[in-house]
Amino acid sequence: MRKALLAVSFGTSVPGADAAIISVENALKEACPDRDLFRAYTSRIICRKLRDEGRPIPTPEEALEQIAAEGYTDVIVQPTHLTPGKEYEKLCSIATGFEDRFVSLRVASPLISSPEDLKDAAEAVLAHFPPQDGRALVLMGHGTGHIANMIYPALQTAFRLAGAEEVYVGTVEGWPGIDDVVRQLKKSGCREIDLAPFMLVAGDHAVNDMAGDDPDSWKSILSGEGFTVRCVLEGIGSWDEIHSIYSGHLLEV
Ligand code: CO
Repeated sequence: MRKALLAVSFGTSVPGADAAIISVENALKEACPDRDLFRAYTSRIICRKLRDEGRPIPTPEEALEQIAAEGYTDVIVQPTHLTPGKEYEKLCSIATGFEDRFVSLRVASPLISSPEDLKDAAEAVLAHFPPQDGRALVLMGHGTGHIANMIYPALQTAFRLAGAEEVYVGTVEGWPGIDDVVRQLKKSGCREIDLAPFMLVAGDHAVNDMAGDDPDSWKSILSGEGFTVRCVLEGIGSWDEIHSIYSGHLLEV
């Protein structure tokens, strides 16, 4: 049996931001040293952009074709996506189409796939950003129209249940949004904010929608409301605590 591990990410085209993806991939590889590591991105737009720039990353279909062509018979696909949302469902249906090409093809779970994962992720954030008196932590998640979006308000609840009152979770494309975050912050009495992405990589959304200088970036909106804002431009894919959640999912399958 030739064994492969395919790490599948949404992807990023921001130079250097893929360090967080590589960091997760290395942790996954370490968790199952008997498998050869392959990489794919699910975002068609990013795959096309990277191909045009001469630094191509395969789509999941292309990677699975290559893995089959190289004679692997046992494949685990580990998504690095944060939620079991649209991208994950798309990946599962792609994998289903390849089932008859391998003796064994399994797809592991994304980062937050159970209540336990949610608590572990909240703990990872609190370990990384220990709560400080008078400072709030605002996390920018991605958000989606998919029901998996419920992970974001649930994550904020997980912080409250862990006793962390001043951590706020918003999303750039889902619910809650920055308006909901601002409304709560005004009541909190905190005037200083650490603003960080709750995303695998500090890519386009973190650089522009979160920390950009445009008037509609979260940094500008929060500064405009009178808060002192410190932006953290690091994806959670660089954190050891997050790696162990992914490695756990990989070992589950
Ligand atoms: Co987006």
